[in-house]
Amino acid sequence: MTASEALISFAHGLPKAELHLHLEGTLEPELRFALAARNGIPLAQSTVEEVRATYDFTDLTSFLAVYYPAMGVLQTADDFHDLAWAYLRTAASQGVVHTEMFFDPQAHTSRGVPFENVIGGYRRAVVRAQAELGVSAELILCFLRDFSAEHAMSTLMEALPYRAWIVGVGLDSDERDNPPSKFAAVFARARAEGFLLTMHCDIDQPGSIGHIRQVLTEIGVDRIDHGTNIVEDPELVALVTERGLGLTCCPVSNSFVTEQMKSDEIVGLMRAGVAVTVNSDDPAYFGGYVGDNYVALAEQAGLDETDLVRLALNSFAASWLTPARRADYVGQVEQYAAAHGVPLPA
Ligand code: HPA
Ligand code: ZN
Repeated sequence: MTASEALISFAHGLPKAELHLHLEGTLEPELRFALAARNGIPLAQSTVEEVRATYDFTDLTSFLAVYYPAMGVLQTADDFHDLAWAYLRTAASQGVVHTEMFFDPQAHTSRGVPFENVIGGYRRAVVRAQAELGVSAELILCFLRDFSAEHAMSTLMEALPYRAWIVGVGLDSDERDNPPSKFAAVFARARAEGFLLTMHCDIDQPGSIGHIRQVLTEIGVDRIDHGTNIVEDPELVALVTERGLGLTCCPVSNSFVTEQMKSDEIVGLMRAGVAVTVNSDDPAYFGGYVGDNYVALAEQAGLDETDLVRLALNSFAASWLTPARRADYVGQVEQYAAAHGVPLPA
């Protein structure tokens, strides 16, 4: 089903939080060329079409094989600022009023870029977004799970002087043979240092169910990234529901790294009362920012405006905002729905 113009415009204007977004996954080919030129880095491709032709993903591993090499153009604090600023402007144009953004410092420090360039540039964009766009933004430091636990721990130590700029920690990259339990000590230390915790439980991974159980019982996370494989185990659905944990789902991304958007899983969990949210993951690679993801899911699953309001309300419920700020954004969503004559979800 194609969405009507009215639904597309409603979805894009709806105030929302984005909670699953990799800043490095917002590197559009045009910006990559500009940064390569600025830093004197030769690239294998010379046109945007040639770059997009390499975006031939069949699973998480084949995506990551394109994603990491592309980051080589990011070197100075200005580069990281420009990347985040471009994302924040686009996000604002698609209704994002609050965003909690992942960044992967080890993908940069491991190639000789100082940690302070990464965090310094991103922080400048965060401050600017509040001042110039009225968008509130937070940073979540993600550890690369295919690196060692020791490397993660030393990255956590490197981040401590910047504690005030980082709301939480996450875990991403290749899940195969890299279970959550590998990072139990790192996450325990991060918790003790006052960080909130989330972890990727990627879609249809070998051991998905066992990994999600570890995340819930051994790590004790505050949120789960992806995680829709819980539908295979009613006990996990019950645990997630009881704890009121948010799942940060990414329908367009799912359709690139698996066969489908997983719309039945996302919408089924939403209707069962789980705080599922809709997000863009790596929009430069998957061709859709967050408003586009709301529309794609609506088209695939036949959602109406009230369902989209539910997803926006979930995005604030699952966010790491203070209760007062969350209530303020919920009020904005309710006002927006009322102004469009859209009934609130039951
Ligand atoms: N999963 C794992 N690693 C990632 C992802 C993802 O969705 N996006 C960027 N790195
Ligand atoms: Zn992700």
